[in-house]
Amino acid sequence: MNPETPKKLYVETYGCQMNVADTEVVQSVMSKNGFAMTSTMENADVILVNTCSVRDNAEQRIIARLGDFKHYKKQNPNVVIGVLGCMAERLRSKMMDENVQTINSVVDIVVGPDEYRKLPQLIDEAFDGEKGIAVRLSRVENYDDIIPFRADGISAWISVMRGCDKFCTFCVVPFTRGRERSRTVASVVNEVRELSSRGFKEVYLLGQNVNSFLDLETEKDFSDLLSEIANVDRTMRVRFTTSHPQDMSEKLIRTIAGNENICKFIHLPVQSGSDRILELMNRTYDSKHYRSLVDKIRKHIPNASLSTDIIVGFPTETEEDHQQTMAMMKEIGYDGAFMFHYSPRENTKAFNWDDDVSQEIKTRRLYEMNEMQREISFKLNQKLIGTIETILVESESKKSSEEFCGRTDTNKTVIFPKENLKVGDYVQVKIERVNSATLFGRVIGNYSFGH
Ligand code: SAH
Ligand code: SF4
Ligand code: F3S
Repeated sequence: MNPETPKKLYVETYGCQMNVADTEVVQSVMSKNGFAMTSTMENADVILVNTCSVRDNAEQRIIARLGDFKHYKKQNPNVVIGVLGCMAERLRSKMMDENVQTINSVVDIVVGPDEYRKLPQLIDEAFDGEKGIAVRLSRVENYDDIIPFRADGISAWISVMRGCDKFCTFCVVPFTRGRERSRTVASVVNEVRELSSRGFKEVYLLGQNVNSFLDLETEKDFSDLLSEIANVDRTMRVRFTTSHPQDMSEKLIRTIAGNENICKFIHLPVQSGSDRILELMNRTYDSKHYRSLVDKIRKHIPNASLSTDIIVGFPTETEEDHQQTMAMMKEIGYDGAFMFHYSPRENTKAFNWDDDVSQEIKTRRLYEMNEMQREISFKLNQKLIGTIETILVESESKKSSEEFCGRTDTNKTVIFPKENLKVGDYVQVKIERVNSATLFGRVIGNYSFGH
């Protein structure tokens, strides 16, 4: 390759934050191999799409996008097109199957989440007209030494563990991401140090189930990791997701409570409020365990905000099960909830069960939950009117160039006038007005941690 005109890489990312973080690993691997990044497909030599398989509609969206790429490749036959991520892992060579009309012949390479080190070689071969596939899953952490490609900024994603061993009966992730494995505490701490020295103000630790993080070299667990990271830079916020309700220990709750810069926001997916459904889902906890966990969190961290994921219309879900979920949501009073229609996924246990809740009923139940959740979020936000919140200034507001946007420690979005602030400042904002999704306020001063 001519070093003076580096080839250009364009990546589109779908799915969860772990995919966003993986894209940065991909960009790091590729930039070390002489590629330049571009944010437009039109001048790219290589187009990669990092995909998600979690629900059928996630895959359909990507198939439709590959249809666009097919059209594009007709005009630009030399461009190399690659499919990465969970769909690559799940569908493997089917992604290049001549029989799949929308995608046949457009995909040159298919690369699963643990094989990104092979990208430069596979892409080189693809430029010579050779299609390639690499989808082996790893049993060990294999990107520990790669510093992800990140533009300067305020907030950084850090994958601290990969894979999942939980095998919830609805979920494709254990099949697309493989077995659970953690990085070493030392490597994560080093990454956080580097980010701090570059001026980052927030790190977001990622894993499908961060609570089962375990550094095999030192036997340090997730709360050890959190407190070491919180100590690297006391003015840097630490966030994390996702917490599985089975493995959340009291030690972890105390660690969150005991460190000002560990954010008091916990995403704790419940999936259903019905014990019968939780058991069918193989979630390994019941509603009683979940409630007592929430009690423990509230006891140690009174101002904690909680969010959840819910699946609507899991096989055999009755009206009574649905009402139990509604009751649970109301009782806990989540600050936010992500709710999804159940989508049968091949290979999972539930795939063998009849998807017997009609689309119509799923839609109605989801609607009821959305309405209730909006009201709950609104009421919780209303309670914040008149309070003073510490906000990290993150970006210009999307709606007005006169205003900034930031988040509270509890992950609520706040809009406030710019004044003479800059991105990366911590400020105190008095909340004056709210809706169910956003708080609005006025700046009353700067904020320093530890004062
Ligand atoms: N590891 C996380 C979840 C990752 S997937 C956890 O255990 O909480 C994100 C969310 O997608 C899940 O919490 C679940 O609510 C939803 N989800 C996963 N599989 C699904 C399926 N087959 N149909 C509908 N929603 C699903
Ligand atoms: Fe999927 Fe369950 Fe693992 Fe979450 S814990 S990724 S829902 S199998
Ligand atoms: Fe989707 Fe894979 Fe994440 S299935 S949700 S991109 S782990």
